[in-house]
Amino acid sequence: MKNRGVYTGLVLAGLLLVFGVWVLSFFDTTLSIKRVALDSEAAAKRVALPSGQALFNPPRPEDAPESIREEVMLGYKIMTETSKYAWQYVGNGKDSKLSCSSCHFEGGRSMDSISLVGVGATYPRYRDRNEYTVDLGIRIQGCFDRSMNGTPPPLDGQIIQSLLVYLQWISKDIPIYAELPWTLPESLGNPHKPDTANGATVYKDVCARCHGINGEGTDIAPPLWGNESYNDGAGMHRVRTLSTFAWRFMPKNAPSLTQEQALDVAAYIHEKPRPKFVPTHPDKIVRLIPLTEGK
Ligand code: HEC
Ligand code: HEC
Repeated sequence: MKNRGVYTGLVLAGLLLVFGVWVLSFFDTTLSIKRVALDSEAAAKRVALPSGQALFNPPRPEDAPESIREEVMLGYKIMTETSKYAWQYVGNGKDSKLSCSSCHFEGGRSMDSISLVGVGATYPRYRDRNEYTVDLGIRIQGCFDRSMNGTPPPLDGQIIQSLLVYLQWISKDIPIYAELPWTLPESLGNPHKPDTANGATVYKDVCARCHGINGEGTDIAPPLWGNESYNDGAGMHRVRTLSTFAWRFMPKNAPSLTQEQALDVAAYIHEKPRPKFVPTHPDKIVRLIPLTEGK
């Protein structure tokens, strides 16, 4: 009798254990689903996530396989501390307040900025600027000589190659040529005609405390115009891009502008002086071979 009691107890304990593990595993998946949901929650009203599309769940750099881990980590550091690790290719060199992460928060891993999760799967891609399909290395060079007001690092050097392996890693599990619902839309699609005078007021009231009264940047946030800012060839030097960025993500962590205010402040910033883009290499890819030959 006594033995049977022990036996039943053991079986019960075993069942409980299995049940517990099952419950825990369920809890764990809900946790990870929730994390994804939480990431998008801040942008909830702003980012529509149609069902059945690629899931936003970038792996951490430190979880990369050993054979590529150090390069992935270096790529991440180049993104977040560009003036330290790639100062030779950045306007203002080691003193630059801009980094890739100024616009691609957390090295592009954040959904609440111009996310780079998935770019590894969407290049090579046709670009009007090049009048050809270009790979991610050439695309990154463009961010150095325009957004960072610097010069493009060589494609076969450590900087670009580390950035490539990093961006590829955070694109893990995204299907090739997937549609990425979290990329920055072209524009707000709002017909409001920007009013720069109102933009000046918005700037003073909302942006100046972090970006400085003269757009020069502070210890908290990078410059928005002037010698140390992105140049006039940069994507951000477009009212439609800047207004979309500002409406979605500014002030950082607590976006609060109306679309009209975002357009006004973007137009105001757009009129301020900034460095001129000086091309250092040809953008166009020469079509030596008529493409119809491939037919
Ligand atoms: C001042 C803001 C800014 C900075 C700084 C910046 N970028 Fe960008 N980046 C953008 C904008 C805006 C776009 C997309 C719009 C466009 O096509 O111009 C973009 C696009 C990209 C893309 C292509 C994304 C896609 O989905 O096609 C890559 C890759 C990229 N940036 C990498 C970098 C790297 C690497 C750095 C640092 C060397 C950097 N960026 C610095 C603003 C910036
Ligand atoms: C609470 C502080 C804060 C406020 C207020 C704020 N920003 Fe920012 N902003 C940041 C930070 C911080 C970054 C850089 C993000 C990073 O490095 O992680 C940034 C980045 C930017 C960038 C891209 C990088 C650059 O400097 O070119 C733009 C454009 C921008 N902000 C525009 C605005 C506008 C427009 C406003 C006002 C509507 C505004 N911000 C208000 C903190 C702020």
